[in-house]
Amino acid sequence: MATQDQLTGSPEPADGRPTRPGLRSTSWFAAQGRPGMIYRSWLRAEGFVPEVFDGRPVIGIANSWSELTPCNAHLRGVADAVKRGVWEAGGFPLEFPTMSLGETLMRPTAMLFRNLMAMEVEELLRANPLDGVVLLSGCDKTTPAMLMAAASADLPAIMVTGGPMLNGKFRGGDVGSGTHVWKFEAELAAGRMTQAECVVAESGMARSCGHCMTMGTASTMACLAETLGMQLPGSAAWPGADSRRQLTAMQAGQRAVTLAKQGVRPSQIMTRNAFENAIRVNAAIGGSTNAVIHLLAIAGRLGVPLRLDEFDELARPVPTLVNLMPSGKYLMEDFCYAGGIPAVLAELGDLLHTDHVSVTGRTLAENIADAQCWNRDVIRTVSEPLQPPGSGTAVLRGNLCPGGAVIKQSAASPHLLKHRGQALVFDSIEEYHEAAVQPDLDVDESTVLVVRGAGPRGYPGMPEVGNFVLPKVLLERGVTDMVRISDARMSGTGYGTVVLHVAPEATVGGPLALVRTGDWISLDVSARSLTVEVSDEELARRRTEWSPPPARYQRGYARLYTEHVLQADQGADLDFLVGSSGAAVPRDNH
Ligand code: FES
Repeated sequence: MATQDQLTGSPEPADGRPTRPGLRSTSWFAAQGRPGMIYRSWLRAEGFVPEVFDGRPVIGIANSWSELTPCNAHLRGVADAVKRGVWEAGGFPLEFPTMSLGETLMRPTAMLFRNLMAMEVEELLRANPLDGVVLLSGCDKTTPAMLMAAASADLPAIMVTGGPMLNGKFRGGDVGSGTHVWKFEAELAAGRMTQAECVVAESGMARSCGHCMTMGTASTMACLAETLGMQLPGSAAWPGADSRRQLTAMQAGQRAVTLAKQGVRPSQIMTRNAFENAIRVNAAIGGSTNAVIHLLAIAGRLGVPLRLDEFDELARPVPTLVNLMPSGKYLMEDFCYAGGIPAVLAELGDLLHTDHVSVTGRTLAENIADAQCWNRDVIRTVSEPLQPPGSGTAVLRGNLCPGGAVIKQSAASPHLLKHRGQALVFDSIEEYHEAAVQPDLDVDESTVLVVRGAGPRGYPGMPEVGNFVLPKVLLERGVTDMVRISDARMSGTGYGTVVLHVAPEATVGGPLALVRTGDWISLDVSARSLTVEVSDEELARRRTEWSPPPARYQRGYARLYTEHVLQADQGADLDFLVGSSGAAVPRDNH
């Protein structure tokens, strides 16, 4: 009777040990006696030939695939392409599932779970016999969570995002995921669109696999993962449905094997210079305000010093080049065909650290040596930009936000960037939604709408509600934008003159908690200031009357989160997750 090894034609190595020691996985698979037998034997149950234990790099494929995360639902196919690349390059791929975060479905907000996913993936990377990992992500929070995890485990890693959806289409025009939801919502509220028409529009908005195809948070983080050097050049923009998504995945699998052999770690790729490049590219692409929070969190894991104000200071010389919704006109498919991130990097040139080395092992300058732009209306030049330098995300300071606040200038109304108005204050987004439909709401277009209680600890999880829809009475009058202020975030696909991430948040006693309806608020973006015109004495008096709201959660992860989450200006990570523990495993249970 044939043995299993005869069936596979693969004779077992005499002592079961690898021929090329030195990789992390050898401490599992090169072990002799009982431990080695346990490590190898159970994996053989999956049908692997014994050669997989010959000392080749073991490459994990961390897959955030889930049917509950529509933007990542195609990642199993992407993982297959990665595996082909790993096998082809002489590695041993092992795919494993991770937590997944579906932006559209999860309550109270996917952001509540970003840190949980990062913690889970970090521990999976460290606990398993991996020499390197390919990180498969897509939807908003899955990309930063994966990068935070890779940073803290500091195992050789390369990222493959799932790519954007094809351009949305409705009535002959382009429809951007997210961005048009806000437009249609306003049209519906104003009576210019019916519910039936919205249902038709929604099917045209999601035409293929992939993440949101506007320059929302998912596209932004994919582009920044590429800029940081963690993604292969040009790969952020290939649509999820494009065969070149599979190609780039296969190439990433091949590259992961080399990274593992060379021991190139994320901390060597995601350097201070890499973050400076990412901040500047975020300005050039009109990227999401959420990138501020995610980059701060990733940098915190790596010990890279990064201040909130640097998102403003470093971005000031950078014009907005990319003409994509929500700041502009086009969508990610157009961006891809126009040249994608390499074309943007080439255009920015000396504004970037071009000697930064990526996962390719080459410098940024080498990576983009052949980059070209094929559509100058989609990717503008520095000399004829979409918006002038300094029009990206501004960081505001003042007595209303001593820890800072942000506003995305390119998505705001220019005439509102300097504005003084009286506050209309709501303690929760639910309270606002209830009031916003009232026909007798005392509000006009000069009013400054304030919604608090939506910060990291308050909601909890800092939901994307900052670009809340305008009051119905004003929509019906044709008002399209107003100054809105909150301690919440905004969807990267959102737009409007919205001041976000006010820190400290109201729930921890930030000055936002002390503002009252009728107070005058002054916003001056060019001066980077946000102030409430109330004396220090009066604010101090109000503070004596203030008490924190009771905690919403008494147990479980939400309690852990609320007790340990940092403020927005520190990346909203959990305080005990900041930093790195590396990939060393101190103990072996066999
Ligand atoms: Fe997943 Fe927009 S909802 S990327």
